[in-house]
Amino acid sequence: MTPNQTTVKPLFLLLFTLITSALTAQPEANYDETKVPKFSVPDPLVTFGGEAITDSQQWEEKRKLEIYQFFEKQIYGKVPALLDEYSFKVIEQDNNALGGKAQRKQIAVGIKKNNRSLNFNILLYLPIGNENAPVFLGYNFHGNHTVTDDPNVIITEAWNENNEDLKIRNNKATEASRGVRMNRWAIDKMLDKGYGIATVYYGEIDPDKNDFSDGLHSLFYEEGQTKPKTNEWGSIAAWAYGLSRAMDYLENDTNISNVIVFGHSRLGKAALWAGATDLRFAGVIGNDSGCGGAALSKRKFGETIGQINTSFPHWFSESFKKYSNKEEMLPVDQHELLALIAPRPLYVASAVEDEWADPKGEFLSAQYATKVYELYDKKGISSTDVQEVNHPIKQTLAYHMRSGKHDVTDYDWDQYIAWAETFAK
Ligand code: GCU
Repeated sequence: MTPNQTTVKPLFLLLFTLITSALTAQPEANYDETKVPKFSVPDPLVTFGGEAITDSQQWEEKRKLEIYQFFEKQIYGKVPALLDEYSFKVIEQDNNALGGKAQRKQIAVGIKKNNRSLNFNILLYLPIGNENAPVFLGYNFHGNHTVTDDPNVIITEAWNENNEDLKIRNNKATEASRGVRMNRWAIDKMLDKGYGIATVYYGEIDPDKNDFSDGLHSLFYEEGQTKPKTNEWGSIAAWAYGLSRAMDYLENDTNISNVIVFGHSRLGKAALWAGATDLRFAGVIGNDSGCGGAALSKRKFGETIGQINTSFPHWFSESFKKYSNKEEMLPVDQHELLALIAPRPLYVASAVEDEWADPKGEFLSAQYATKVYELYDKKGISSTDVQEVNHPIKQTLAYHMRSGKHDVTDYDWDQYIAWAETFAK
């Protein structure tokens, strides 16, 4: 190599890095209400073609489908095909679990496509004495064994994001992380009130990394394919699909009445999309779901589409990237995702210090979705309702803003359980 070449190459590399980082750099997140751009959200009751919708039948026939298809093709991405095979097996059961409070079952679900298979485990607790219990179904972030200190819960073998605080090291869960997330799962409260709880480790459906070689997506590839096609599913849609496969088991368990799908944060986004895609969920809860969940995108407050698509390029369909920093171009906004769940009960929850998730954008989104609930004579967040800390509004479309940070707390569960009493039993 000549001396000239040795200086040209690093210079070229430097230039290349500068240009690519300038192209992908995201504007600073805005936390200033006065800097929220002037925006208007699309009216859920006017079709893309400009036709007004005046009743629930017109909504179902004309509007719901076009909104659904937009979210499906342009935001979360389409599921490419049907499964070839589905099976489940109760691999462990104890009718005297948690000190006699619960029946515990661990169910191995197997799914097959193109001779490739994926397995995941459902951990289910049902209250003793309530033979027909409503169940909360939600993913956990680090493994079923983290939600309880019950020593019999199977430890996941799947890839796990390292987390020193939760004692997850070398991308593997071990005994050391048993019970580390008990604070987020009010299991005793649920059981005492006659509710069951079902949970799955989301990494068993699709490991949360920008790598499409593993997880659910890879089962569906055609010869030579290495990632989903442009309009096909990202990880959020895959997780939502996994919730439906858990539902396939739960709806056949004769001890279960209704299933309310729940999720926090990225898993709240997945729960909302699962609620929109699968009518079998009797209720839906999005806890601190933020950008790409309940929060309006067009406010550009806290996390934006540009930021989420840069930090988590695998979460949405590839086609969603064209809206990065171009939120005003979107013909829908997230209140219409909420509207797709109507008339089923839906709870949107925020935390006041969780500005990244835009609590105000989540509240407005619930308020703007309410007119669709009203078509079915259901109540939601009216235009006169105000967003106040720790003042839940518990209608069919419910909302609260808890004090504190991005988290799931007993306060949240107290509200969800009390709200579920109005429809789930
Ligand atoms: C990040 C991400 C959010 C997401 C959150 C979570 O903060 O930007 O969109 O909701 O992680 O899942 O905890």
